[in-house]
Amino acid sequence: MNVSPVIAEEIQRRRTFAIISHPDAGKTTLTEKLLYHGGVIHETGEVKGKSGTKAVTSDWMELERQKGISITSSVMTFDYQKLRVNLLDTPGHKDFSEDTYRVLMAVDSACMLIDVAKGVEERTKKLYEVCRYRKVPIFTFINKLDREGKDPLTLIDEIEKTLGMQCYPVTWPLGIGQRFKGIFNRLTKELMIYDQRRDEVEQFHIVPTIGQDLSKLLHQYLDRESAEQVLNELELVEGALPPFDEQAFLAGEISPVTFGSAKQNFGVDLFLSFFCKYAPAPIPRPIKPQESLSPLDNRFTGFVFKIQANMDRRHRDRVAYIRICSGQFQRGMKVFHSRLDRELRLAYSNQFVAQDRETVDVAYAGDIVGINDTGNFAIGDSVSSAGKVEFEDIPKFAPELFAKLTVRDALKRSKLQEALKHLAEEGAIQIFIDPIIGHQDPLIGAVGELQFEVLVHRLQDEYNLEAKLNRLSYTVARWPRDKQGKAVFEVKGHNLYRDMQDQPVLLLNQEWDLNWAARENPELEFASSINR
Ligand code: G4P
Repeated sequence: MNVSPVIAEEIQRRRTFAIISHPDAGKTTLTEKLLYHGGVIHETGEVKGKSGTKAVTSDWMELERQKGISITSSVMTFDYQKLRVNLLDTPGHKDFSEDTYRVLMAVDSACMLIDVAKGVEERTKKLYEVCRYRKVPIFTFINKLDREGKDPLTLIDEIEKTLGMQCYPVTWPLGIGQRFKGIFNRLTKELMIYDQRRDEVEQFHIVPTIGQDLSKLLHQYLDRESAEQVLNELELVEGALPPFDEQAFLAGEISPVTFGSAKQNFGVDLFLSFFCKYAPAPIPRPIKPQESLSPLDNRFTGFVFKIQANMDRRHRDRVAYIRICSGQFQRGMKVFHSRLDRELRLAYSNQFVAQDRETVDVAYAGDIVGINDTGNFAIGDSVSSAGKVEFEDIPKFAPELFAKLTVRDALKRSKLQEALKHLAEEGAIQIFIDPIIGHQDPLIGAVGELQFEVLVHRLQDEYNLEAKLNRLSYTVARWPRDKQGKAVFEVKGHNLYRDMQDQPVLLLNQEWDLNWAARENPELEFASSINR
C-alpha cells in the first residue's frame, strides 16, 4: 500500500545528494554557497576552511579544523525552490574512502566538483567509480573559473576520456581567469555577465540572446579574441551534441556540466536551479531477497549508513544516521530492527541544519535522521515500521595498516577496550581479536594512515586516554570462504583472527604470503571485502 497524497508530495520534494571531489577543488566553498542560497547562512564566510577563522560548518572535530580536511561526514538540509535538499558531506581524504562509500549509498545523486586548472584528479576518479558502479546520476560543476585553467573543450574531453562518461555542457564559460566575463546558459540562451565590482548578491546581469545577434553581443562584452574563441567553441558544441537526454542522465551515463566560481558565488545559483529541475526524488531501493521498495511504500523503512560517537562531548552521546528509504518517520515510533530481530522505539531523533541539531518529529523518505543510540545500531542495519525489511549490505573493506595500542596506566586498559569498541562500531577503525588471547588485547586495522592519527587524537580528546600506537608488519587482511561463500574457521598453516562480527580473518605480511596461502588452500577463496 502507498502513502497518502500529502505524504507522497513531501517525499517527492526531497533531493538527497553529495559532492564528490579531490581535496582543494572547493567543496567547502561550494557547500557554503549552497547553504547561503538555501538561506541557512546569511553571510558567506561563516563557513571557513583552511585558515580557520571560523569553524567549518560541516566538520565536527577539532582535528579536522586543525588539519583543514573534512574527515567525518555530516548532513546539511535546506529548502530551495519548494524542494527540501539534503546535502551529505563526504570526507575528501583518501584514508576515509570507506566513510565516503557509505555516504554514497545514502544519496540519490551526486555533484562532481572539478578544479578548472587541475581537471580530473585521482580522488575524483575513485569517487566517480563508486557512483558509476551504483549508477548514481552525476552533475558536474567546473570550479574556479576566475583562475587560469584548461580551456573548456580540453576539459570536457579529459572528463569524457578519463571517466568514460559523456558530458552535456549546460553552460559555457566566456573566457577563463583574467579574461573570465561570465557564462552562456545553453538552455535559456542567456548570457550571464559577471560583474566583479558588485557585491555577492547581484554580481551579474542577464542578457537574453534569443532573436539577437550572439556574435555582436559577445563582441560587446568580451575582447575580440575571446569572443571569437567562444563563438567557435559554441559552434562545435552545438553541432556535436544531441539534446539533453534525461533518461541517460538518470542512468548515470551522461553528466550535465555547469561552470562557475564557488568563491565568487558565480554560477552556483544556476547550478542549484538546474539541480532542482533534474535531480531525482528518492529512488526505489533494492531489498533482500530480490525486490525493490518504492519510496512511496506505506511502511517507514531505512538503513544506518553512519554512526558517530561523542558529537557532544558533554553528553558522550552516539548518533546513528538513518537514511529513510520509504514512508514517513515519526519520533517515538516503534520499528523492527532486522539484525537484532526485535522491536525498538526511535525516541530521540535529530535533523541537521548546518552545525545545529534540531529535534525532528516527522521526516520522510529521502531525509536523514540522526537517532540517539545506546548501542543498538551498527552500520548497515535496516529498520522498518512493519515486519522485517533488509536493504543491500554495506561492504567493509580490507585494512592495509595494522597496529596495537598500549596505555601506560594499566588501570585504563578496560577503558581503552571500551573506547576501541565504540570507535569500531562507528566504522572509524576495524578490530581484530586473537581468539586465544581474547578481547583484552585487540589488533587495530585501518585503511589509511590518517585513520590512526585520528584514532590516537580522539582517544586523548574524547576519552582522556594517552595511547601509544605500535605498528605491526601485516599489510593484508582477507576473509577466508569456501566455494559456497561460507566462512571457514581453519586455514592450513595459519592462525586466524576474528573481526567485530566474529568472522574469521587471515592477516598476512604481504601479497606474496596471500598467493602462497591461496596455493596451499586451493579449495578456499580469500575475500578482500565483506558485507556487514
Ligand atoms: P575543499 O573543501 O574541496 O578542500 O576546498 P576548499 O573549499 O577549502 O577550497 C580550497 C581553496 O580553493 C581555498 O583557498 C578556496 O578559497 C579556493 N577556492 C574555492 N573555490 C574557488 C573559486 O571558485 N575560485 C578561486 N579563485 N578559489 C577558490 P585557500 O587559499 O586554501 O583558502 P582561503 O584562504 O582562500 O579561504
